[in-house]
Amino acid sequence: MEVRKIGIVMNGVTGRMGTNQHLIRSILAIMKQGGVKISDSLTLMPEPILTGRSESKLRHLAEDVALKEIGRTVAYTVNLDHALGDAENKIFFDASGTLQRAGFVEKAVKAKKAIYCEKPTATVTQEALRLAKLVEDAGLKNGVVQDKLWLPSFRKIAMLKELGFFGKILSVRGEFGYWVFTGMDRDQPIQRPSWNYRAEDGGGMMIDMFCHWQYVITNLFGPIKSLVAYGNTDIDERRAEDGQPYKATADDSAYAIFLLEDGTVCQFNSSWCTRVRRDDLLTIQVDGIKGTAVAGLREAWVQGAAETPKPVWNPDIAQPIDFYKGWQPVPNNITYDNAFKIQWELFLRHVALDEPFRWTLREGAKGVQLAELGMQSWKEKRWIDVPAL
Ligand SMILES: NC(=O)c1ccc[n+]([C@@H]2O[C@H](COP(=O)([O-])OP(=O)(O)OC[C@H]3O[C@@H](n4cnc5c(N)ncnc54)[C@H](O)[C@@H]3O)[C@@H](O)[C@H]2O)c1
Repeated sequence: MEVRKIGIVMNGVTGRMGTNQHLIRSILAIMKQGGVKISDSLTLMPEPILTGRSESKLRHLAEDVALKEIGRTVAYTVNLDHALGDAENKIFFDASGTLQRAGFVEKAVKAKKAIYCEKPTATVTQEALRLAKLVEDAGLKNGVVQDKLWLPSFRKIAMLKELGFFGKILSVRGEFGYWVFTGMDRDQPIQRPSWNYRAEDGGGMMIDMFCHWQYVITNLFGPIKSLVAYGNTDIDERRAEDGQPYKATADDSAYAIFLLEDGTVCQFNSSWCTRVRRDDLLTIQVDGIKGTAVAGLREAWVQGAAETPKPVWNPDIAQPIDFYKGWQPVPNNITYDNAFKIQWELFLRHVALDEPFRWTLREGAKGVQLAELGMQSWKEKRWIDVPAL
């Protein structure tokens, strides 16, 4: 039985996404489960080295956190060049801030590593395409995180579609967001990094979320033909990690209609300034002629044509129909693994075994493009066509 080690340089891993989703819930979880079993004779085993600027934060993750999760420590260094120089490290992964991404990817390309990174790959399309071309010209395997594709609920939507549950799909509504505390109130600390609310640091709702909506919509419902969008900075002052007030310059809410090539209308509201009274932090309603589904992050509920109630508009009486009662949950017939971990396993297989992996930097650039076009639509107050990349 061969256990094939795959060294991974994990950069920017002390951040929110790096620590929780990529280190603990993906790489350490894969190590804990005994690697990625390919066959009775082969298992792939990731071996991370954590890189970043803060030695103490890295040591905490590599020693305390790793010890708790997998019973042993992992490597770390503040010397990225050193980690990239080690031929055992086959993959470079980046979860640093968006504006730092290009510099790190360029370094890793020079070191001939396979490149995997968080979205967005850049804040403008030209730069995202430049990075995609850079890795392609160097002949390197590459990928971008598109985690929402493996959310249990979206897998259920994909299944319902394949089963023909919807019939013709008419429209899709996405409602995303929750209240992100400003840090201005006593005992209500911020729960997202402050750079997310500064455009000059790569923050903003459109650049953050439209790259998700791009691959979600395209993969589940089809190619996007055009869009119209409006953004806003609802709250223009927040407090940073150090407690100091700062000017929030980025859009913290965004409203968009994406028109698909087949005529389906997808409307997405995204906001960090809204309070949740719905099933989950993200809900997507898919209305088809034969049935409708509403998906949260994990669960999905369906109502077919035959179970659709007939409401009567009458505000003079209490609503006689309990609309929530007319829905059936889609059962959890399988165990759904963490979405980030699933994509990591696919990337490891891609690197080690040449298996296909279609979520590349070039695909990621399409998400950046949609965000950039969204901002253009907002500024110019008009519909914009989405050109093929
Ligand atoms: N896939 C998703 O659902 C998802 C969700 C949130 C964020 N993200 C993306 O992940 C990335 C990180 O976001 P986050 O929320 O974790 O932010 P964060 O601010 O918590 O983390 C960023 C990390 O990068 C590090 N960093 C910054 N500059 C660096 C440098 N020069 N050298 C080394 N390390 C550096 C920071 O110290 C920090 O550890 C962003 O690009 C963001 O768009 C993706």
